[in-house]
Amino acid sequence: MRLSGGQVAVVTGAASGIGLAMARRFAAEGLRVVLVDVEEGALEKAAALLREEEAVVHTRVVDVGERAEVLALADDVYERFGAVHVLCNNAGVGSGAEGRMWEHDPNDWAWAFAVNVWGVFHGIQAFVPRMIAGGEPGHVVNTSSGDGGIAPLPTASVYAVTKAAVVTMTESLYAHLKAEHARVGASVLFPGPHMLRTGLWESHRNRPGRYAKQKPRRTPYRSLAQWEAAMRAAGHEVRFTPVEEVAGLVVEGIRADRFWLLPDSEHSDAQIRARARSMLDRANPSYLESFILD
Ligand SMILES: NC(=O)c1ccc[n+]([C@@H]2O[C@H](COP(=O)([O-])OP(=O)(O)OC[C@H]3O[C@@H](n4cnc5c(N)ncnc54)[C@H](O)[C@@H]3O)[C@@H](O)[C@H]2O)c1
Repeated sequence: MRLSGGQVAVVTGAASGIGLAMARRFAAEGLRVVLVDVEEGALEKAAALLREEEAVVHTRVVDVGERAEVLALADDVYERFGAVHVLCNNAGVGSGAEGRMWEHDPNDWAWAFAVNVWGVFHGIQAFVPRMIAGGEPGHVVNTSSGDGGIAPLPTASVYAVTKAAVVTMTESLYAHLKAEHARVGASVLFPGPHMLRTGLWESHRNRPGRYAKQKPRRTPYRSLAQWEAAMRAAGHEVRFTPVEEVAGLVVEGIRADRFWLLPDSEHSDAQIRARARSMLDRANPSYLESFILD
């Protein structure tokens, strides 16, 4: 679709990281932006930053895992702006799960699913019917991850399961939109190809009490800086992709109506091939063994 001045973009998880970069880029393209996040202070700071750049910004504190809050968000946005052209279901969290799957805290699963899976579904249900009925061109971008979206990192497997669900949900959404001959497109985003300097490693900052861990963590949370230092100390190269590059991929992808917002990467391509090959050959997923850590 064509992006043009005055259109409206709704971005969840917009107070930080990739969501903020997408909102900023949409504003730079002349779109009015609705910044949605559960973290109020960070959300207001993000809005102030965009307003300094002359953007038309509306904010709303929403927990995307709560259906009623997402439905109320859509009512608010439609009352205020009358239309939505771009919807980015981007809010997401790392689950904080430790150890083997049979040792996981069920609340790690419940929380990660509430935000990463139900959050996307609530966004689709609250906005897509009105985007279709509006009759104007529109686009939905759902944020997945190479972890799960391509193949799981067994050390982050709850997250991976949620991100695999986002891919399948978006493929299904794409098919449903085509079946309706809707003027609304759909894409699934794989941020990268390298690491990103975002708040994802500190996801627990927004973990609500109702999903609190039932037993305390055995090991402290590791920050991105700590992980980076450990990787470098072990002699590994660590590369980062700027969030602005991810936002650029999204804008280009919406313009080109591209479903797979998958940056060029030999590493991703090798993983995709290995997984597809294993399925086609009915061979066991030996490609996962290289990821298995103690
Ligand atoms: N950072 C990475 O390496 C990476 C890689 C692949 C995919 N992703 C995905 O990108 C998306 C954005 O993450 P990020 O890396 O920018 O992290 P981030 O923590 O910087 O941003 C995520 C935002 O989502 C918000 N959020 C969390 N729970 C929420 C809820 N219940 N309701 C509304 N907002 C909520 C947070 O407050 C935060 O502002 C996520 O879906 C994440 O899974 C990130």
